[in-house]
Amino acid sequence: METVSLEKVESTNLYGKEHLNELADKTVVHARKQTAGRGRMQRQWVDLGEGNLFMSFILKPSDSFDEIYSNLTQYLSVKLCKILENYGLTPQIKWPNDVLVNGKKIAGILSETVMQGNKFKGLVLGIGVNLHADADSVKLVKDKEITALNMEIGKDVDIDNFRENLCTDFYVEYSEFLKYGFEFIKSDYVKRASFLDKEVCVKVFDTEKRGIAKAITDKGELVLNNNNKELVLTIGDIL
Ligand code: BTN
Repeated sequence: METVSLEKVESTNLYGKEHLNELADKTVVHARKQTAGRGRMQRQWVDLGEGNLFMSFILKPSDSFDEIYSNLTQYLSVKLCKILENYGLTPQIKWPNDVLVNGKKIAGILSETVMQGNKFKGLVLGIGVNLHADADSVKLVKDKEITALNMEIGKDVDIDNFRENLCTDFYVEYSEFLKYGFEFIKSDYVKRASFLDKEVCVKVFDTEKRGIAKAITDKGELVLNNNNKELVLTIGDIL
């Protein structure tokens, strides 16, 4: 596994996309500072200051796109939960891939697919983990409540050590995941799901879908039940 370490970059995902051709499969790009971090659904990812993790996995699993690649965000969310559990925390996953601790978001994951014409070139799977924040810096994120590892465990963690553990764990079962897809992690995912059997509102592009979150399918989709009608969502954001 190769590593690209940057002091400052607009976005490790953007860097990964712009340099995809030169970067080997499984390279990890990380930066100490991000000036234009990108989130899901055109949102931004705020840099909370020194000591936070911004990194992207550069993945070139094959020459053509396979639908299980879209579940890699969920695979990564499970891996992150397991690491946070080693610190004594009880993280939960909000479909599809937000990781929360005590109901507050601690990490975000964004996967971007790179195409050249209609040829699949690879994926850039980015993750930002709030490792270091305080009561003031968490207010930089206006639209939701967030937390950070140091605030949850009452001490600072070594960012390089945390990143190395996450990278190692990510690649340990990566090839199995590519073989079996979401089913490989389904029970680990569902165990940590915060939303099941609850009434949820899901933003899907410009619309909102409501219902009881009934299940997760073998493909990682969310099943909503609204007045006995079943709705299966592949994309969206639980509000
Ligand atoms: C989200 O929750 O909306 C996803 C946030 C993803 C943030 C990470 S930080 C590293 C990588 N580079 C980016 O610009 N975004 C991802």
